[in-house]
Amino acid sequence: MTNELSRRSLFQAAGGITLLSLVPEAFGESSQPRPSGSAPLPVFSALPYLQPGPHGSRLVEGEESIVVAWQTDATPARYELTYGPAGTENVATISTTPRGKEGRRFTEFRLNYVATLEGLSLDTRYRYRLSMDAKPFAEGWFTTRKGRGKKVRFVAFGDNSYGSMSDRAIAYHAYKARPDFVMNVGDTVYYEGRDGEFGRYFFPVYNATEAEPRIGAPLMRSVPVYTVLGNHDVESHSGGLRGADFDKYSDALGYFTNFNLPMNGPATPCPVPLSGEAKRLDEFKNAAQDRHPRMANYSFDYGDGHFLCLDSNVYVDPTDPALQQWIEEDLRTATAPWKFVVLHHAPFNIGIEHGDEQHMRALSPLFESLGIDMVLSGHEHNYQRTRPLRFSPTDLTGAKAVGKGTRLVPGRFTVDRNFDGVRNTKPDGIVYLTTGAGGHDLYNLEMNDRPESWKREWDGNVEYTAVMKTDRHSLTVFEMDARRLELRQIDEWGREIDRVVFAK
Ligand SMILES: [Fe+2]
Repeated sequence: MTNELSRRSLFQAAGGITLLSLVPEAFGESSQPRPSGSAPLPVFSALPYLQPGPHGSRLVEGEESIVVAWQTDATPARYELTYGPAGTENVATISTTPRGKEGRRFTEFRLNYVATLEGLSLDTRYRYRLSMDAKPFAEGWFTTRKGRGKKVRFVAFGDNSYGSMSDRAIAYHAYKARPDFVMNVGDTVYYEGRDGEFGRYFFPVYNATEAEPRIGAPLMRSVPVYTVLGNHDVESHSGGLRGADFDKYSDALGYFTNFNLPMNGPATPCPVPLSGEAKRLDEFKNAAQDRHPRMANYSFDYGDGHFLCLDSNVYVDPTDPALQQWIEEDLRTATAPWKFVVLHHAPFNIGIEHGDEQHMRALSPLFESLGIDMVLSGHEHNYQRTRPLRFSPTDLTGAKAVGKGTRLVPGRFTVDRNFDGVRNTKPDGIVYLTTGAGGHDLYNLEMNDRPESWKREWDGNVEYTAVMKTDRHSLTVFEMDARRLELRQIDEWGREIDRVVFAK
């Protein structure tokens, strides 16, 4: 078996794309000189990757969608994407949007392609074939979302694309877990969430051509990646309120131009503040289209889980009535046995770095009344799992203090100290998980496995933390069916460092 064949075998086993050898020069890698006068070929800044697409937040047979996206430099080409059980039955509609034309360098200009495949069945494997200038150059496959009653595996991690070796190891172990999808908890790309940073730190690692701990893995071409807005996904400075300044970074807010997530969120509450010259703002809005600002908040079902994904940045007021109304409507109509909230700023964490950014805990009573089981977060660059807890705020002044770095929300805690996830698997309260050890430098090494240090005066020294691992990068692997949820925390060397089971 040749190396090329064995690489194809790996992709076929795991799902994803195979780059056909018919036109290797499509990637700008040919050693053969091209004939003079022939048209230049595009250089790919992102090879084809999967996204959940705008539709289908609820699981409806025949209404599934998936997006196959890719990005090139400004060199145009004609693309066709066919798909179906055999790969050629249907032709997808492809949209093209320019990005970076108003940038300061010509190399920032790229073309973003999105093929939206709609009307698909649940839990079904499809093949697709992508041609460029009438020559097939990539073929792949994906599996649509699983419906109720199917066992689902997903991975969660955040605070990741930083350019470190640990990013790559976490990507590798995420891929090795064979997940159905990835749930990133924000700070997806450092430091400013710019398109150029996606090109340097994100796509080469999470959409790598090979699976190897020092390289990354072909994760994004195998399964959809969901994510939420972290501070570094929007961060440039605009007066006192952090938002996106397009005069400073014309390629800011890559979240809205690189991802294609469900579009069932509210349009207006607490949008990302934008500033900059009109031509740069227009260029961004044209590339993002209706994804901005709507895609900042959304929800989706997968198997027996419902996931509510929220923007938690400094400009967000969690007491905003319109935001709370949408959250309530979404969770009230969610019928999945397990309900998760995903937001970047951990509402309960005892880290030194970000423990005072507590504004999102203002939503805890709403989450408790609407049956949330777990809140997944990052921001703190380590792993923390709380005991199941209930929380009643006594002063919401800090929650409303939009734009402030410290937003303390005091209140009364009720902590379930009986749940251990082994013998007692029925929690009384919500478990708050911080899984922000996805690649960036770790915080609070001195607190690793030292429970005596896991309390804060501003939280009345309540001992709500069950586990804290700060000495290594890690990711969370979930196995879920209607009655049982297993959580395993895996470190960057593939070792299990926490395991707990929840039962319905
Ligand atoms: Fe963060």
